[in-house]
Amino acid sequence: MRIAMIGTGYVGLVSGACFSDFGHDVICVDKDQSKIDALHKGVMPIFEPGLDQLVERNVRAGRLSFTTDLQEGVAGAEAVFIAVGTPSRRGDGHADLSYVYGAAEEIAAALTGPAVVVTKSTVPVGTGDEVERIIREARPDGKAFVVSNPEFLREGAAIEDFKRPDRIVVGSDDEEACAIMREVYRPLYLNKAPLLFTSRRTAELIKYAANAFLATKITFINEVADLCEVVGADVQDVSRGIGLDNRIGDKFLHAGPGYGGSCFPKDTLALLKTAEDYQTPLRIVEAVVAVNDARKRAMGRKVIQALGGEARGKTVALLGLTFKPNTDDMRDAPSIAIVQALQDAGAEVRAYDPEGMEQAKSAMKGVTFAAGPYDAAAGADAVVLVTEWDAFRALDLKRLAKVMAQPVFVDLRNVYPRQEIEAASFKWHGVGKPE
Ligand code: UDX
Repeated sequence: MRIAMIGTGYVGLVSGACFSDFGHDVICVDKDQSKIDALHKGVMPIFEPGLDQLVERNVRAGRLSFTTDLQEGVAGAEAVFIAVGTPSRRGDGHADLSYVYGAAEEIAAALTGPAVVVTKSTVPVGTGDEVERIIREARPDGKAFVVSNPEFLREGAAIEDFKRPDRIVVGSDDEEACAIMREVYRPLYLNKAPLLFTSRRTAELIKYAANAFLATKITFINEVADLCEVVGADVQDVSRGIGLDNRIGDKFLHAGPGYGGSCFPKDTLALLKTAEDYQTPLRIVEAVVAVNDARKRAMGRKVIQALGGEARGKTVALLGLTFKPNTDDMRDAPSIAIVQALQDAGAEVRAYDPEGMEQAKSAMKGVTFAAGPYDAAAGADAVVLVTEWDAFRALDLKRLAKVMAQPVFVDLRNVYPRQEIEAASFKWHGVGKPE
């Protein structure tokens, strides 16, 4: 099958590379010349484990190519995927659909034969209707279907998630379009991945509902963690205790500094906007957004408390800055609010992240970036584990304590058992655990 993928961001590049790995002939299109030039040289625009090898293998096999020329990419394609960004619109939190509609117009002008146009970008309910209108207006006699096919992959585990999805959602009422989509996903389908066919609007909503539900689960356990701290309970045991109930499940119940990233914050806001537009408020999601925002700042206050209530003149070392491990993505990372709160209180911040420091340099000012965890901790009054990178799971705690001015360890991801931290002569602080 011939597939065109418009947009080489996280979703576009990973999906395009994986489709080519299935044996499809894939051409990835992006307006950004420097990105395409880099991809031609085998340099990935994002950090994602395994992606460079996957791309290299398929480029070498002649199944995957890159271009800035949308016309060339779309000509002859049986399926054209739109995987461009849908950032939060400045000011109102609505999803900014200008890239999606822009791509739809260019695709409409470039289509040479019958094709399925597939929206993979996360888009509000009704966007597919507008994309269809744009395509039909440009090609009144042409045959083109517009399908919604949201993507559920996670950063840092993107290839595995794409190739072994819990489900594939296809939103279309058209038999022919569904048959083409079945072909696109044939290898996964044969591998027993459930393929769920729904209406287009339903598919669009499934993506937002899934992300909002996961954000709710995280925020729920984060609030329970706060309660654990004051009543003397242990949130990790609470998570285990409730997660063993099959109806609840044990995933996404890790208490921490609040969710961040490129999806949950923007998608929950966009969902709220849709709900508002249709005068059907989603009160639970409203609370989740507010609680999560407040939590990120509260984590800064937690660190100040660990410093004895006074941050002025103190130095704090942050280990991990990205919103989660195995990515260089700093979008809406809790570390940004934590740094802000610490600096506002007069603390000096030093930081180390295995992959995210380049991105962090533009997301936070006045931070000293260190060469490694021990370098970051040198002379510090507290070390804060913000992101649970594997590189921080086996720290030499005694060495870490020795280089610090005051051995205080704030573990915002509950990576270490308290005893281990205390055995290295640290004063320990965790999340959702009795002090
Ligand atoms: C998420 C969805 O999981 C994915 O299906 C969707 O396509 C895009 O959004 P992603 O943002 O890559 O993926 O990361 P994810 O692993 O879901 O983590 C999101 C945030 O939640 C991170 O900040 C993470 O630290 C936090 N989180 C996650 C917790 O704090 N606790 C948990 O138990 C799980």
